[in-house]
Amino acid sequence: MKILTNTSLKAYNTFGINASAKQFIEIQHEDELMHLLKRFYTEEIFVLGGGSNMLLTKDIDKTVFYINILGKKIVEEFENHVIVEAKAGENWHEFVNWTIEKGYGGLENLSLIPGNVGTAPVQNIGAYGVELKDVFVECEAIHRQTTNTRHFSLQDCEFGYRQSVFKSALKNQYIITKVRFKLTTQTHQLNKSYGAIKTVLESKGIERPQPKDISEAVIEIRQSKLPDPKEIGNSGSFFKNPVIESSVFSQLKRQFPNIPSYAVSETLTKVPAGWLIEQTGLKGFRVGDAGVHAKQALVLVNYGNATGKQIQNLAFLVQKKVIEKFGILLEPEVNIF
Ligand code: EPU
Repeated sequence: MKILTNTSLKAYNTFGINASAKQFIEIQHEDELMHLLKRFYTEEIFVLGGGSNMLLTKDIDKTVFYINILGKKIVEEFENHVIVEAKAGENWHEFVNWTIEKGYGGLENLSLIPGNVGTAPVQNIGAYGVELKDVFVECEAIHRQTTNTRHFSLQDCEFGYRQSVFKSALKNQYIITKVRFKLTTQTHQLNKSYGAIKTVLESKGIERPQPKDISEAVIEIRQSKLPDPKEIGNSGSFFKNPVIESSVFSQLKRQFPNIPSYAVSETLTKVPAGWLIEQTGLKGFRVGDAGVHAKQALVLVNYGNATGKQIQNLAFLVQKKVIEKFGILLEPEVNIF
């Protein structure tokens, strides 16, 4: 095990922010993690996974535990489904591809999402009508103080829209080490409801899609709208789509008849933040190397050397303009440090 000091985290966060860590330790095994948690018991640590959902606005004056525990396997096969397991450090998209190549169904709509398996449950990643919770079986996590291992069932995780118990009641208490999923092997329940998926499948003349076809369609849609973090730094959607009272939404609809929406319940309505931001005129806006992506206004980007503070200032500006125009406060989806 190597302990590095004053290490740049630029390569470890998809925003490509050049913040540094006081100490940096790469962890490749669960037992190593337990040992280090005991050793660093009295110190505050900073747990880093894929670095795909964070904005670093300052240097990290703590020891970074970089969770790079690898491995994936089929746990159990049944007549029409299979249980698969991936360790926390596995790259999410590579894991999705591995399941797709085996012909399994369930993760295809979640193709090309940046980040690692271990952090996917924390924010219940979701895209194109599917969320992680739809295929999640359980995860294993280690308690930071006691180093006890605990299994979390679907119910234990309290998943919601970009939400879980790991972000709320148990925030900063556990480190997820592996996740299990239930995937279909023959009769797939494919989610094609998302408009753009239908359009892509139709354009290719695919009438009876397999998980691989959906995955390829999702990749095509994502590549057409979302910047590739390897080329332009970003953390995907910077804000959550706000959920507002339906009565408030009705008033907005009178003022802005084209406002898109999705019903969440009888009393709540979700509004796409990307649309709100675009209406303020900020889509494509850029200050130095910090920008609002020109093809999807919900994504803030680092064109090269923006600092975390500059991205944060741009986020404040976006929030200000959206409040002024719509009276809605956009809540960041990204964790800001
Ligand atoms: N829209 C605009 N202008 C924009 C962006 C979007 O008018 O600049 C409108 C679109 O026309 C559409 C609506 O907003 O009517 C929704 O847009 P889109 O389908 O692109 O999805 P989104 O709601 O902006 C969410 C997720 C994405 C996920 C997509 C697809 C959140 C915060 N974001 O975005 O997730 O890929 O749906 O399912 O829920 C992420 O979390 O990092 C992420 C990329």
